[in-house]
Amino acid sequence: MFSPSRSGTFDGNVDDRVGKFTESIGFDQRLYEHDIAGSIAHANMLAKQGLLTPVEAGQITTTLATIRAEIHAGEFQFRSQLEDIHMNIEQALIDRLGDVGRKLHTGRSRNDQASTDLRLWIRAQIDLLDIQLASLQMAFVDFAERESTTVIPAYTHLQRAQPVLAAHYALAFCEKFDRDRERLLDCRRRVNRCGLGTAAVAGTSLPIDRVCVAKELIFVSLALNSIYASGDRDFVLEYVFCLSVIAIHLSNWAEDWIIWSTTEFNFISLPHEFCTGSSIMPQKINPDVLELIRGKTSRVIGNLQTLLVLVKGLPTAYNRDLQEDKPALFDAHDTVCSCLEMAIAMVQGARFNSDSISNNIEQGFLDATTMMEYLIKQGMPQRNAHYLIGQLVRLAMNENSTLAELSLSQLQALAPQIDESVYGVLGVKNAISAFQSVGSTATDQVAEQVRRWKQRLNTEN
Ligand code: ARG
Repeated sequence: MFSPSRSGTFDGNVDDRVGKFTESIGFDQRLYEHDIAGSIAHANMLAKQGLLTPVEAGQITTTLATIRAEIHAGEFQFRSQLEDIHMNIEQALIDRLGDVGRKLHTGRSRNDQASTDLRLWIRAQIDLLDIQLASLQMAFVDFAERESTTVIPAYTHLQRAQPVLAAHYALAFCEKFDRDRERLLDCRRRVNRCGLGTAAVAGTSLPIDRVCVAKELIFVSLALNSIYASGDRDFVLEYVFCLSVIAIHLSNWAEDWIIWSTTEFNFISLPHEFCTGSSIMPQKINPDVLELIRGKTSRVIGNLQTLLVLVKGLPTAYNRDLQEDKPALFDAHDTVCSCLEMAIAMVQGARFNSDSISNNIEQGFLDATTMMEYLIKQGMPQRNAHYLIGQLVRLAMNENSTLAELSLSQLQALAPQIDESVYGVLGVKNAISAFQSVGSTATDQVAEQVRRWKQRLNTEN
């Protein structure tokens, strides 16, 4: 079988089965735009350095642009015997330009091409992902505004803990996804370095100008050391780690809403366009989209694992194993993007069932901690107050009542220092009003957060 990477060293052709086994064009063709951008920058630099004539560089760049348009239009025939995207494009150039096309690969290798294509691709995806994450944040801010007066129980250990505004819950996710955006932008700084010109491993003896190529491709700096950069995939690991954290955040959110949409909780109504039925049980409205977001998170994390194990045992510099990075990278990326698309629509379409929530919001002693803090404000040491409120909770449990339903004399029997004013912090509404710390669920704190997020997200657009 014909293979352009086979030099005169070889005795005979490669076995046909090897071609099939080693090809990556099946999955790396999606890098074509970035591969061509890299080749155009490389050709321009070769001309500047006198390694191509201006006419040759012009022919190469024009033909590369034509090839790009053909691929874009679906008119380009990829050939698996040409292994990968780099050689498919180079061979198309050679087919059209002959010896001039054969000059493009001067001073570079597929090793630095592959890593540079990936850097360009990931950089572009980070910018798109940032927009998607901002939309999701905006959906949570809108949700917070819609639910500005709804009070829900906050759970720790999935046991009722303290009352919070539903808006506060929504803004927790707004902040999580903001950290994800920060992490991506930080990752982008390390992605945004040019590996072209490191060639196979040692650099080149030809007078190339790496800085010129990096500038044309709008990289901020060089991935400098040729041994490191030609086989570097650290930036892929980092990107897929960032994707994994996003997926985990989505999975946590999906888990909340799956539980909340059960008959037992009945906190939330999911948009029916994003639920599915059962083929046997006619009454079922299943949260399959949320379940799949949770399920697909395992794929993303699995892909991170694949990548970590892929690079773990490699001898320094490029090894062909690295070709296996792309299926894992692409799958992690595609999975997170599709989960985000679903999440944005579901957050936009969901509604809290405030009546159902408020029906039993006074159960579970959500105001116990606030009552303890009331005693602390009265001068009682926290540990003593904690113990005492525990006794009152026990009393209320025995009486099948809430704390607010205990009489003043019942309260005073255990804690004589309690007076009428305690009823000002008991009950969920009062408890919410009592909050005051920065970042808490206090109404003014939450309103301020909503204002700040809206301003931030609107000015970004
Ligand atoms: N397709 C390969 C990859 O994705 C790049 C080819 C490098 N091949 C080589 N024999 N040096 O990593």
